[in-house]
Amino acid sequence: MSKKTLTTSTGAPVADDNNSISVGPRGPLTFDNHYLFEKLAHFNRERIPERVVHARGTAAYGHFTLTKSLSEYSIADFLQTEGSKTEVFLRFSTVGGGQDSSDYARDPRGFAVKFYTNEGNYDIVGNNTPVFFLNDPIKFPDFIHSQKKNPQTNLPDPAAAFEFWANHPQSLHQMTILMSDRGIPLSYRHVHGFGSHTLSLWNDKGERYWVKWHFKTNQGIKTLTDAEAVGKPAFGAQEDLVNAINDGDYPSWTVKIQIMTQEEAENYPINPFDLTKVWPYKDHPLIEIGQLELNRNVDNYFAETEQSAFAPSNLVPGTGASPDKMLQARLLAYQDAHRYRVGVNHNQLPVNAPRCPVNHYQRDGFMSGCPMHNGGQIQTSRANYYPNDRAEAGEPAPDKRYEEPSMNYAHAIVARHDQSEEDYWTQAGDLYRVMNDDQKNQLAGNIAGGLSKANTSIQERMLAQFAKADPDYAARVKAALEKI
Ligand code: HEM
Repeated sequence: MSKKTLTTSTGAPVADDNNSISVGPRGPLTFDNHYLFEKLAHFNRERIPERVVHARGTAAYGHFTLTKSLSEYSIADFLQTEGSKTEVFLRFSTVGGGQDSSDYARDPRGFAVKFYTNEGNYDIVGNNTPVFFLNDPIKFPDFIHSQKKNPQTNLPDPAAAFEFWANHPQSLHQMTILMSDRGIPLSYRHVHGFGSHTLSLWNDKGERYWVKWHFKTNQGIKTLTDAEAVGKPAFGAQEDLVNAINDGDYPSWTVKIQIMTQEEAENYPINPFDLTKVWPYKDHPLIEIGQLELNRNVDNYFAETEQSAFAPSNLVPGTGASPDKMLQARLLAYQDAHRYRVGVNHNQLPVNAPRCPVNHYQRDGFMSGCPMHNGGQIQTSRANYYPNDRAEAGEPAPDKRYEEPSMNYAHAIVARHDQSEEDYWTQAGDLYRVMNDDQKNQLAGNIAGGLSKANTSIQERMLAQFAKADPDYAARVKAALEKI
């Protein structure tokens, strides 16, 4: 390889990168140290805000292979042809810890997939759990505050976490998963992924279907106990993924969906848009539709993984959201977060840029580096407004074929709808009852560890919740608490 000359950021060769220019060997520096200034100024600006949640993450590229056409349900280009491959980028994460926390926290794992389809990017921004702690987004900042570090001591605060849960029975189902033997995955290769929310698909007849996405790990579920996790190196899960891919041991997931028609949803006894609930498989069996494999590590962690921007609002024709209240808020929250964290033109960065042409009338803004995203590379004056008279000349225009079917909320009342009387016990109890004795004891012990730090009132309210799910659940936690 020929020797390369060190340059400034504008490409000018640098003669000396060891010595600043000074007035004699013992004198002060001079103003012609512009190279030094550039170096220090850039260094000062190396950090961008970390994600407010899911700050610690690891990602890789791969592809999704469709094994069952979904043309019956969706016009989405990437869901039509069996055998077709779509490039993906998948970022795993923990939720509560900052960038320098541990990969082995007892915490849900983020499972965010970006499908680079021929009709734009489709993002499924899910977790390794099928449900969530909340079903109203207005609680999200409070919930996250209660799970992160204590604002005064900057230490983990299990009492605050349980204080939140004691006041929010809607969290019981997800909290039971979190505190179970599945709460600390051995690695990112050994987790399932879930879209969690009810999303939608729609076909060329204008029919909409409700859908839940499941990514079942082909490596099997493997987990750690609290005691095993303590001895693990902080970067272990990241190292595991990077090494597996470098060694050609590509991790993969079998992709499945559950489908519900709109009519079924109207009559379903469980609110199908309540993120604290699953759709039991006996009602809506899993349908296998593909394989997802990760086979390429990033070239540059910051440029790709850190600046990657996933958004539940990244939808493509034939897919859609749903009335799930949590999802509705997320349709706004992520783009907003990206504008703050990465910048208004984050979708121009290679990791976020779609692999298909981008034609729109958005212009300029900080760091608009790609002519294609800023109106085109052709020298002629391009329209930057719509409508215009230049469709024949190639200026973009909307196309009605991509109109999502409308929704009918004719008789709905616009108001704040209290969900506190929902049934938050049955599914949490069902989950408890499928656990074996060892799993039940692990669950009770894990809960007792944190709950013992909370006051008696919180403990009593939590025990009352467990009892409603299953009396034995409460009895075991109580016994575990008494042993501490
Ligand atoms: C109202 C509810 C929620 C709000 C307001 C919210 C907000 C956020 C925000 C602001 C980020 C950081 C985004 C960034 O800076 O790039 C984030 C990341 C993330 N959220 Fe949520 N979130 C919510 C619920 C959920 C739920 C229910 C799930 C999973 C089912 C989820 C999964 C994720 C994942 C996986 C990431 C990391 C994405 C990545 O890898 O970059 N979030 N969330």
